Amino acid sequence: MMAEPILEVQNITKMFGSVIALSDVSAKVYSGEVTCLLGDNGAGKSTLIKILSGVHQQTDGDYFFEGQSTTLSSPRQALNMGIATVYQDLSLIPLMPVWRNFFLGSEPEKGWGPFRRYDIDFAKQTVQEELGKMGIDIRDPDQPVGTMSGGERQSIAIARAVYFGAKALILDEPTAALGVKQAGTVLRYIAQAKARNLGVIFITHNPHHAYAVGDRFIILKRGKTLGIWSRDEITREEMIRSMSGADELEALSHELDVLASVDAGQDERVAALEHQVAKSLEEDAGNN
Ligand SMILES: Nc1ncnc2c1ncn2[C@@H]1O[C@H](COP(=O)(O)OP(=O)(O)OP(=O)(O)O)[C@@H](O)[C@H]1O
Ligand SMILES: [Mg+2]
Repeated sequence: MMAEPILEVQNITKMFGSVIALSDVSAKVYSGEVTCLLGDNGAGKSTLIKILSGVHQQTDGDYFFEGQSTTLSSPRQALNMGIATVYQDLSLIPLMPVWRNFFLGSEPEKGWGPFRRYDIDFAKQTVQEELGKMGIDIRDPDQPVGTMSGGERQSIAIARAVYFGAKALILDEPTAALGVKQAGTVLRYIAQAKARNLGVIFITHNPHHAYAVGDRFIILKRGKTLGIWSRDEITREEMIRSMSGADELEALSHELDVLASVDAGQDERVAALEHQVAKSLEEDAGNN
């Protein structure tokens, strides 16, 4: 039998007035896996993750965290329990340096009493170390976040959640606004978070991105569950209806292969995952 899910919802219904945003939706999320949430605009994806992250409460149905029945009253409570959510706007401040953004709201301090102050050296060093562990090399922790690429910014937000001890990581369309290469970078960090045993929930419109890293797929349609599959229960062809940009995928696959070989000495598990991502994308490109 499988381990117990880190997060589980059963028969969730969510009404906004008379609008039924979710109807009888059930889902399980496991540690060390990527669970992908797919579906068209208005399918209920954001509503579901807002329930998981304490922004909304369900109208009906049950929520379990680490097997315990749970009622979340705020996003802060969810975060304290280890459920971190990275929204598309990221809540990073563009003009602030990387290290300040990383510790925003949880500033490390040193000294005592009236001598207490922000431990800047610790912050800078930690940011460099933590991002380094995720394979992100920042030369200068003073670099303003606004000058970094979209993919790097997503990666910093993911690294921050990992550092602050997230057990479940919810990503709302992290690859949506990105070009192919940067999307590849973010997919690598999703694989990294998975390798560090987080339970990752990855929302995307893009079945290629989902199939590249996903272990489990939930497709929502007009507030209802269209299907739940584990990776071995659904083929790419079944999931990927429309296919465009085969060339782009081939290029991405090559990028990832190169990155995987760079990382090979670092962490075998991560490298293996990255290789899997690259291979999957390569096959997508070849088949379509
Ligand atoms: N606060 C709200 N008040 C009223 N209706 C809402 C609210 N939030 C969502 N809805 C409705 O619930 C349904 C599901 O919306 P939701 O945002 O969860 O979809 P989604 O799958 O995230 O779509 P997208 O891919 O466009 O982000 C929609 O019909 C939407 O209009
Ligand atoms: Mg949404």
